[in-house]
Amino acid sequence: MSRPIIAANFKMNVTAGEMASYAPRLAAAVADIDDVEVVVAPPFTSIDRAARGFGNSAIRLAGQDVSEQPHGAFTGEVSVAMLRELGCRYAIVGHSERRLHEGETDARVSAKALALLAGGMRPIVCVGESLADREQDRTLEVVNAQLRGGLAGVSADQARDLVVAYEPIWAIGTGRTATPELAQEVHGAVREGLQALFGDAGTDVRIQYGGSVKPDNAAALMAQRDIDGALVGGASLDPASFASIVRAASSR
Ligand code: PGA
Repeated sequence: MSRPIIAANFKMNVTAGEMASYAPRLAAAVADIDDVEVVVAPPFTSIDRAARGFGNSAIRLAGQDVSEQPHGAFTGEVSVAMLRELGCRYAIVGHSERRLHEGETDARVSAKALALLAGGMRPIVCVGESLADREQDRTLEVVNAQLRGGLAGVSADQARDLVVAYEPIWAIGTGRTATPELAQEVHGAVREGLQALFGDAGTDVRIQYGGSVKPDNAAALMAQRDIDGALVGGASLDPASFASIVRAASSR
């Protein structure tokens, strides 16, 4: 299996001032773990402080979103080059909260993913069904459509820089985690979808699970065949709790 990737999505939490104390605490707590890739996505305003606070640690930085445009008259937007200059290696695209509140479509998700890949960054592309989708037995159909739409135009060669996050919307911030078996069922389908799109390269794309991942359920989720990491919201806001999720993904 490829190296697991555990990412923190702070959402609209953690100011630059708070980041200054969070960063060294997380860096110290995961310093001895080298078989897990650790990524933190602070709000844009806290990224620079995070970079300084993580110092020489192996923790990677991510944007929570990015513009598909290179520069220009796009008030409020942040470009790939701006994130890269601050040291970001990744950016999350297509998070369900952006799909819901900002009307983000699969076409924009794909444009953003392509802009990141062209700019030497790695997209974390989020997919996931709503509770209504699940109740109507449409989970795999919805997730496959998001995958095909959100990854449109991505080549098999570029797929090696891709991360996909499966986040059932009904599990985000609700304390209701998908059971490991139920998550694996969708992850297996996502894996097949990636192989259909990218051939062999689809086998190596890391697929994160997200939705109420906590220190006490992380190990069971990580033990599933096609779960290669986690995207963690609420439980990432405390460095000790995020570090114990990272530890659950480590084989040491
Ligand atoms: P949660 O958020 O861990 O708070 O459920 C996950 C996410 O939205 O990425």
